[in-house]
Amino acid sequence: MQPSSKVHLYDFEVASNDAVGEKVYRLVMRSPELASELRPGQFMNVAVPGDASHIVRLPFSFASTDPEAGTVELIYAVVGEGTRRLSEMPAGSTSTVVGPCGNGWDVKPGGRALAVAGGVGAPPVIAAARALAEAGREVDVVLGAQTKSRLWGEDDARALGAGEVVVTTDDGSYGMRGFTTQAMEALLARHEYDLVVTCGPAVMMAGVARLAEGAGVACQASLERMMTCGFGACSTCNVAMRAGGYKSCCMDGPVFDASEVAW
Ligand SMILES: Cc1cc2nc3c(=O)[nH]c(=O)nc-3n(C[C@H](O)[C@H](O)[C@H](O)COP(=O)(O)OP(=O)(O)OC[C@H]3O[C@@H](n4cnc5c(N)ncnc54)[C@H](O)[C@@H]3O)c2cc1C
Ligand code: FES
Repeated sequence: MQPSSKVHLYDFEVASNDAVGEKVYRLVMRSPELASELRPGQFMNVAVPGDASHIVRLPFSFASTDPEAGTVELIYAVVGEGTRRLSEMPAGSTSTVVGPCGNGWDVKPGGRALAVAGGVGAPPVIAAARALAEAGREVDVVLGAQTKSRLWGEDDARALGAGEVVVTTDDGSYGMRGFTTQAMEALLARHEYDLVVTCGPAVMMAGVARLAEGAGVACQASLERMMTCGFGACSTCNVAMRAGGYKSCCMDGPVFDASEVAW
């Protein structure tokens, strides 16, 4: 996976922070140096001001960067106290962010690639799909959500113009009714791939990894773990490996070769 560049503490200012779905928000932060340092698949640790009892930074991937504008785009779901307070940060408010953290996607030119995202796993998958398309690959994208109001990423995936885009919802409210893995099976039957990239709920990624392995296709997965320190000191974010032992999601990941993970 792509090695991490040097991690720094940066100031950021919220350029915009708006709801784009049910409990799903899009935050654009202005932080010029971070915007030029981040590579697809890396993450950042954001300090959300407002409550001294919550001092732990929150880890987030990013969907895109605009180094010229000096901005970074985050898509996040409100799931608890920290993300609720993040959703209340107005444009113009400021805080700090640590990044770029971890190792991102290994993007190389090659054949057709398949990107599979579930829920708010979509931001790093869209970033990967964009990088793969820029490397000259055809890229098909599968985006899954529980329901239409929680779906993000379809416009960004279509804007790539690099291959097929398939949307699934668990409840059938939009796109194909069912899971991303069902859409993936159909695509595997129609196309020859040499790479799968995925991020989403653990159970979905395990299924994607299994299908990719069965089809003999390399698979990279961006894992999510609870994180306390974010720099390899606490073991909160351990990932069990197939060969035995553990790696840390914050330092060795978050992107792993899926065949090395003990799903
Ligand atoms: C590398 C990485 C990248 C991430 N990128 C994104 C992103 O792009 N968009 C996004 O919406 N979220 C992302 N997350 C998850 C995000 O960090 C958590 O949702 C957030 O920290 C929750 O904080 P909270 O205080 O609101 O919730 P808490 O009160 O801390 O927790 C609320 C619920 O969410 C669960 N939870 C909290 N943190 C995590 C986690 N890291 N992994 C799995 N479950 C968790 C808790 O178990 C609990 O059930 C990412 C996590 C990691 C590790
Ligand atoms: S979060 Fe502490 S080791 Fe990864």
